[in-house]
Amino acid sequence: MKINPKKYLLDIDCYSKEEILQIINDSKIMMEILNRKVKKIPTLRGKTIVTLFYEPSTRTRISFEQAGKILNADVINIATKESSSNKGESLLNTILTIQSIKADLIIIRHPHAGAPYFLAKNSEIPIINAGDGSHAHPTQSLLDLYTIHNNIGQIENLNIVMVGDILYSRVARSNILGLSILGANITLCGPKTLIPNEFLSKSQLFNNITFEHSLKKAVNNADIVMPLRIQLERQSSGHLPNLEEYSKHWCITNDILKFAKPSVKILHPGPMNEGIEISSEVAHGSKSLIKEQVTNGVAVRMALLYSMLNSESKMSLEE
Ligand code: CP
Repeated sequence: MKINPKKYLLDIDCYSKEEILQIINDSKIMMEILNRKVKKIPTLRGKTIVTLFYEPSTRTRISFEQAGKILNADVINIATKESSSNKGESLLNTILTIQSIKADLIIIRHPHAGAPYFLAKNSEIPIINAGDGSHAHPTQSLLDLYTIHNNIGQIENLNIVMVGDILYSRVARSNILGLSILGANITLCGPKTLIPNEFLSKSQLFNNITFEHSLKKAVNNADIVMPLRIQLERQSSGHLPNLEEYSKHWCITNDILKFAKPSVKILHPGPMNEGIEISSEVAHGSKSLIKEQVTNGVAVRMALLYSMLNSESKMSLEE
C-alpha cells in the first residue's frame, strides 16, 4: 500500500500510470478481505464518509457504502430530495455543512460537469467524484481497469472497443483517459452523431484511438467489447431515429462477437438496457464480466478509501 495519498479524486488522470497500477494491486488485497467469511477490518474506525448523490445510482452508491462499512468507517447517505438542497441551499453550503459535522470525505454525484472540481477549489474536505454529468466517472474506470487486468493480466496493447453513446458517457471519457495512460488501443464505434468530433478522424493527440463505423470491423480482433447505455436523459434531441433502429445496428449479440477474438470479454458499466445495446444472452453469458465488475467495484473503492483516509498512520489489514 504505497499510493501517495490524494485529497481529491476528480478524474482518473489525477493518478499516474504507476499509481493506477498500484491501486489495481491494492484492490487485489482488498478483494481477499471482501472474500473473507467475516469481511470487516478496523482500518477506518472513527472516520466518517458521506455519500451525496444528486442523480440516481445503484452500483456506485451501494458499493461505496459497502466498501466503507467493511473498513469500519461510518457511512452517511444523504438523500438529496430530502435534504435542504430542496429548500434552495446551494451545493457549496451543503458541502460546508457536511464539513462542519466533521465528516472526513464526501463522495458526490452531480448532473453538472465540473461540480466536484468547484467543490475541491472551495472547500477543505477530501472529495471523490462519483460521476459529474457527461464528464467523468473515475471510480468506474478504475474498476474497469482492474477487471481487465485481473482477467487478462495486462492492459498495454490490448484492443478495447467501446460501442454506442460516447458523446454523453462519463464512463467512456474516464476510460479513454485510463486506458490511454495504460497503453491500450481503443476503437470507438457507434452512430457518428454520438461520437465526439475529435475522435472521428485519427489525430496526433489521440494516436491510440480509432473510430470505426462498422460494428463487425470494430470488434474484429477485440480483447474487450464495452457497450454503453444510450443516455436518453442527457440527449436534447435528434441523435437517433429511435431505439429499435439503434439496436438493429449496434446491439452486441453473440452473432457479432463471432468476429472478435474467441477469448473476448464483455464489460458494461451498468445499468444495462438489455435488448438495446446488449442482448440478454451476451449480458448473462460466459463472456460477460458484468457481475464481476460490480464485485470488483467494492474492492477498488476499498483501496481508494484506504489510500485517501489512511495517510496519518500505518494501520493493519488484520481482522
Ligand atoms: N455504473 C454506474 O455508475 O452505475 P450506477 O448509476 O448504478 O451507480
